[in-house]
Amino acid sequence: MCGIVGILSEQPHSIRSNTLHMLKRLEYRGYDSVGVATLEGDIQKEAGQVDPFVATITDYETCGSIAHTRWATHGGVSRVNSHPHSDATGEFMIVHNGIIENADELQAMVPGCRPLSETDSEVIAAFFRHRVVEDGLSMEEAIQDFFRVTEGTYAVLLMRKGDERMYALKHNSPLALARVGGLAGGAFVLASDISAFSDETGEAYFFDDMTYAIVAPDAFEVFGADGAAHAMVPHSFEWSSEEATLEEHPHFMIKEILEQPQTALRLLESFRTIQSEPLTAFAAHMKRARRIVFLSCGTSYHASLIGAFMLNQLNYEAHTVIASEFENFILVDASTFVIAISQSGETMDVILPLKQIIDDCAGLGAIVNVPHSTIQRLSTVSLDLLAGQEICVASTKAFTNQVIALMGLAERLGFDIDLSVIPGKISQTLEDIDPICKHLADELSDRNEIYVLGRGAAYPMAREIALKFKEIDYIHAEGMMAGELKHGTLALIEDGTPVICLIPGSDRSMLSSQREVEARGARTIVVSNTGEGEVNVPPSGNAEFAIYACLFGHLLSYYIGVARDLPIDKPRNLAKSVTVG
Ligand code: F6R
Repeated sequence: MCGIVGILSEQPHSIRSNTLHMLKRLEYRGYDSVGVATLEGDIQKEAGQVDPFVATITDYETCGSIAHTRWATHGGVSRVNSHPHSDATGEFMIVHNGIIENADELQAMVPGCRPLSETDSEVIAAFFRHRVVEDGLSMEEAIQDFFRVTEGTYAVLLMRKGDERMYALKHNSPLALARVGGLAGGAFVLASDISAFSDETGEAYFFDDMTYAIVAPDAFEVFGADGAAHAMVPHSFEWSSEEATLEEHPHFMIKEILEQPQTALRLLESFRTIQSEPLTAFAAHMKRARRIVFLSCGTSYHASLIGAFMLNQLNYEAHTVIASEFENFILVDASTFVIAISQSGETMDVILPLKQIIDDCAGLGAIVNVPHSTIQRLSTVSLDLLAGQEICVASTKAFTNQVIALMGLAERLGFDIDLSVIPGKISQTLEDIDPICKHLADELSDRNEIYVLGRGAAYPMAREIALKFKEIDYIHAEGMMAGELKHGTLALIEDGTPVICLIPGSDRSMLSSQREVEARGARTIVVSNTGEGEVNVPPSGNAEFAIYACLFGHLLSYYIGVARDLPIDKPRNLAKSVTVG
């Protein structure tokens, strides 16, 4: 949800080749508008995406630059609402990721402040100008004052014309800092996440909440909100930059779907090597707890449903809840072990409840893809998904690895599953179902609605497949428990309505649901692991079937998106990392 980048270098750097190159790598965080500012006060910005913007801007060489790619929250998609913002004189320039909840109050503290934009961010620049120029505070005092008076979430980069330093402030929104030796004689890069600079370095510092940094071209200092020095240690990470390139593929979605035999294998190998101990420790926490509660959103929520399914089979009390409704639907006590599942590790709907319960529960287990992400840093014990960077907004390979990670934990607790066969079967499934997915995409691409039915471990997959039809194909889809059909939704089934039935083995209840919709004229598409479907995946147990059935859903939604000529990797209105609550 918005990506920010700042570079402070010893020798001048190019805003086109350096700043916007790094920003491009954060574009999956939001792609409504883009902008860049230099230390000298030149601001260029426009609605739209990074590539067309880069093609039209004037390139500048500068020692300080900040840039922003936006996912609109406050104010529509327009040039004036794009970042960077400045105060009325252009002296103070900012980029902001997050939401300033009391922006009106901040504005009231700045006499005469008349923002040009509808954003909650522009006032930040006006606030700093007022406190420093009118009230005579130092920059540091003004920053400490900002922490005192501001409510909300923010990672802010601030530059002042004529000041060779850059200021970085963080509360609740992610912010990382890295030293990049090869850039313009040496530079510090500040960014929303490591993807911005992972092709340049494998080491970064991660800001804590309520801290700020003063960054000079050759050194930086970090402080708490009260001005006391705050220690930050570097962490190394592995985050391949090759994953950020399409290679021969037309879209990242298909590239990421096809990577799954390798990414699944990498995760499984890690269970025998580098992640063997964390896996054992994670499972031990689960064993000790009286109950287990999963916390997650969207696709990651669907993975958590599979986790709960397997744990319930093992007689563990396991619950799932969609994180944004956490406080309304679940209770956590000292005997509850909480498991947060998140590709990005930065989803605000997950982070906010975690922060509330962290001291009252039996511990937090994190299953995340992005190393050193906020959710991982909050956790007692964690597993890395090792799926590599996922660029397409829709999660595919990270989702499959979430399910495999949960299977790894369930196996340690006694669940009967042979994990070693999964990468091979993923490969086989992808090969086998490709032609039928293309064929079905032709048939379904002009439909406005699709239903997906499942039971048990296939129910979460019904939801997951339907979610992909919505986000990738803009088709209204409903993924539901097959048993619920006759309690209302059946009224919507008419002649030709497409209904995908996920039927592992010879699940009798599923077969009844299939017949019920066929009796009303539905066009059913059966996904089976016994060779009796229109779509056939390898023989497997129920939990494993979920993985292969989902490959079908992901691939079909991809080909429908292609047939409908949609912006598959960047669907409208969405962003990969949802860092606002
Ligand atoms: C859908 C999708 C989203 C995410 C959700 C949570 O394809 O990717 O539904 O799963 O926004 O994101 P993470 O997993 O980063 O917490």
